[in-house]
Amino acid sequence: MKTLLILFVLMNLDTLLKTGHCIVTQDQILSITPTTQEQVDILKNVSTQYETVLWQPVSHHYIKEETQVHLFVPANSSSTVKDLLQKHSITHHVLLANANELIEMQMRNGSTDPRSGSTFYERYHSLGDIYHWINRTAQENPDKVKIILLGSSYEKRPLYALKLTFNDRPNKKAMWIDCGIHAREWISPAFCLWFVQHSLAFYTFNSDISSILDNMDVYVLPVMNPDGYHYTWTTNRMWRKNRSVSNNCIGVDLNRNFDANWCTEGASDQPCSDIYCGAFPESEPESEAVANFLRIHKDTVQLYLTIHSYSQMLLFPYSYTFDEAENHNDLLEMAQEAVQKIRRYYHNSYKYGSGAKTIYLAPGGSDDWAYNLGIKYSFTFELQDRGRYGFLLPPSYIPKACNEALIAVKTIALKVIEKT
Ligand code: ARG
Ligand code: ZN
Repeated sequence: MKTLLILFVLMNLDTLLKTGHCIVTQDQILSITPTTQEQVDILKNVSTQYETVLWQPVSHHYIKEETQVHLFVPANSSSTVKDLLQKHSITHHVLLANANELIEMQMRNGSTDPRSGSTFYERYHSLGDIYHWINRTAQENPDKVKIILLGSSYEKRPLYALKLTFNDRPNKKAMWIDCGIHAREWISPAFCLWFVQHSLAFYTFNSDISSILDNMDVYVLPVMNPDGYHYTWTTNRMWRKNRSVSNNCIGVDLNRNFDANWCTEGASDQPCSDIYCGAFPESEPESEAVANFLRIHKDTVQLYLTIHSYSQMLLFPYSYTFDEAENHNDLLEMAQEAVQKIRRYYHNSYKYGSGAKTIYLAPGGSDDWAYNLGIKYSFTFELQDRGRYGFLLPPSYIPKACNEALIAVKTIALKVIEKT
């Protein structure tokens, strides 16, 4: 009898948790739009003094009037934060009421569940799985795929890139794609895997893919920040930076650590900040490894692509200054064409433009650095979505998110081949 009673209570608790209509809350994502300077200040305070994680903007410095803030609020600080917002009449709504459920869903490995018809590429994968995939992909395609060890991470994990080579034409050019600079942006590594799979499967059938791979080798780095990525799978899903230890805080923002107007406005010299630039440019083994590789290969690599999420944007240099890049019009035209294709074929809209003008000043980024190194076609992708799920994009969205990015990548790569 007693057990039955307990069971009954537990079952109801479970439904309550799932519906989310009650005192028992899960971690949530709030969308908040401050309308006055006072509200801005309170919001800055909330996002720094309470146990929350800013999703958008990337740092509390950028919170401003009439601009949406996306804030991750853990269950235990939910009522405190909501009371505070209420007290100052700051309007907000719940973007996601069930973050824990979504997180759990993303980590479930569908292959063990025969009912989920999703393939390997339609799921998110742990770092260990991705390392296995790298090995398997190289083994199964010995004539086309080579593994390159670029270096190792702060916690001594290997940084593997794949090199795709479909023929041995002399003086072949190359393109580079890196994914997973920022740990919590899981759709990014998923895209790199998707891209490699698509290239291998469709080379013979898709004329765009074959013209690209006939003219270029492709380097793909699926996870540039393996320590951070692993940490999002084991400990904190909202982690952004790498995991290097400084005196009081952990992690450097690898996309502020490159030698491009390093640590000026738009980056932080505070080790606890999510946009901490590090002790000096390339202080981090991950950014140094990528920079070293590109320095050696700068004469062959003509196109640099780096994949992030979220907000649906296609950005190009500069991000560290409002000045226009020397081939600004070229870059603008390419981005525009890529975005038009996404709209036409996938009915989704992306913003495009130079980083500084389209989002915010952000120095020390890999795209600006690669550009100044001489790789004149350099783009940052911000994949889906616009904030509905943000970093917690459900796995069922992977195919469309990747396919629309893929068409943009193809468009840009073909343009580069045409121009050079
Ligand atoms: N969301 C990316 C970041 O904050 C944007 C990168 C754009 N490029 C740049 N160099 N900041 O890192
Ligand atoms: Zn990012």
